[in-house]
Amino acid sequence: MAHRLVDKLSGFDSPQQRQQSQKMVIFGTIFLLTTLLILYSSNSGNESYNPRNGYRYTVHTTNLKAWANQDGYVAVYGNKTMNLHCKQCALVTSSSHILGSNVGDDIDQAECVIRMNDAPTTGFEKDVGNRSTIRVVAHSSVYRIIRRPSEFLNKTPDPVLIFWGPPTKISKDAKGTLFRLIQKVSMAFTNLSTFIIAPKKMRQFDDLFHKETGRDREKSRSWLSTGWFTMVIAIEMCDSIHVYGMVPPYYCSRRPQPKRIPYHYYEPRGPDECTTYIQNERGRRGNHHRFITEKQVFARWAKHYNITFSNPKW
Ligand SMILES: *[C@@H]1O[C@H](CO)[C@@H](O)[C@H](O)[C@H]1NC(C)=O
Ligand SMILES: *[C@@H]1O[C@H](CO)[C@@H](O)[C@H](O)[C@H]1NC(C)=O
Ligand SMILES: *[C@@H]1O[C@H](CO)[C@@H](O)[C@H](O)[C@H]1NC(C)=O
Ligand SMILES: *[C@@H]1O[C@H](CO)[C@@H](O)[C@H](O)[C@H]1NC(C)=O
Ligand SMILES: *[C@@H]1O[C@H](CO)[C@@H](O)[C@H](O)[C@H]1NC(C)=O
Repeated sequence: MAHRLVDKLSGFDSPQQRQQSQKMVIFGTIFLLTTLLILYSSNSGNESYNPRNGYRYTVHTTNLKAWANQDGYVAVYGNKTMNLHCKQCALVTSSSHILGSNVGDDIDQAECVIRMNDAPTTGFEKDVGNRSTIRVVAHSSVYRIIRRPSEFLNKTPDPVLIFWGPPTKISKDAKGTLFRLIQKVSMAFTNLSTFIIAPKKMRQFDDLFHKETGRDREKSRSWLSTGWFTMVIAIEMCDSIHVYGMVPPYYCSRRPQPKRIPYHYYEPRGPDECTTYIQNERGRRGNHHRFITEKQVFARWAKHYNITFSNPKW
């Protein structure tokens, strides 16, 4: 085929035409090579885009139980070490799917109850329970936690707070306002155990995301969500996890569209959940979370570890 094309191009033409044809062939070759190069480089994260199934990638599943290491968490005050182990955990998400569920008592029966950021229990006990053993908090939520000590700092006997954030903002060495604030709080509420995810471990969280999704967190201009940190920490410390209020990965692309519900159960006037997920997933600039991509990974982890999802069940 290619031979015939070259024959045709060079066969009966005048020298001028032949020169032009050769130019075209050269241009064509350069174009083809460039295209291949672009395709190749966009492929370098072991991912390729398929319009039907979205991103497909070679998965490198990490054994999160072996991945866990205690020195990944730095105690803010005192000489506490993070050596929590729970047989059975309830991971309560902040989604409004939990409203009206009446599962508060079930949640409280779990050995450890894990919550995120400033999700309150007061006023929502019937649906979310009233115990909080572990709370995973984003650097951006620190102020909201500290503003309400009676809700977040001394409500339950011995709560554990784990803070995550960019090491430049939150680590001990950064000596920034955020670290000093967390330190002050840890000294004032001695029953509290506060930890900050160590810089080294923060990088491991990024690497984990890259390995599991084929996408580089920084290059794809996104942030890991508190949900990502919380799920990994839960897998590290819990033999079994019951997740309350998390939708499956493709929930928001269902037709007909799911009904609109607030993103957070405690912010009834807040943004719609699916709108938030989809906008974040598509966002190409700025501080986006890949909520849907993360859930695809969670769905895979659920096959390796003892994780069940309810409200909705999947
Ligand atoms: C792609 O996967 C291979 C293993 O299959 C790995 O060695 C390589 O580092 C990966 N490439 C990238 C860019 O992640
Ligand atoms: C560390 O904690 C242990 C047990 O809680 C205590 O016995 C020990 O004195 C502490 N060490 C320091 C340096 O505070
Ligand atoms: C909350 O705490 C109280 C007292 O500890 C307990 O009696 C109650 O059953 C708990 N659960 C709910 C869902 O309110
Ligand atoms: C702090 O812990 C002690 C001992 O575990 C307990 O008796 C006390 O009630 C706790 N204080 C608060 C405010 O929870
Ligand atoms: C998973 O956890 C549940 C609740 O703790 C337990 O009943 C069940 O036996 C576990 N399943 C496996 C396969 O370990």
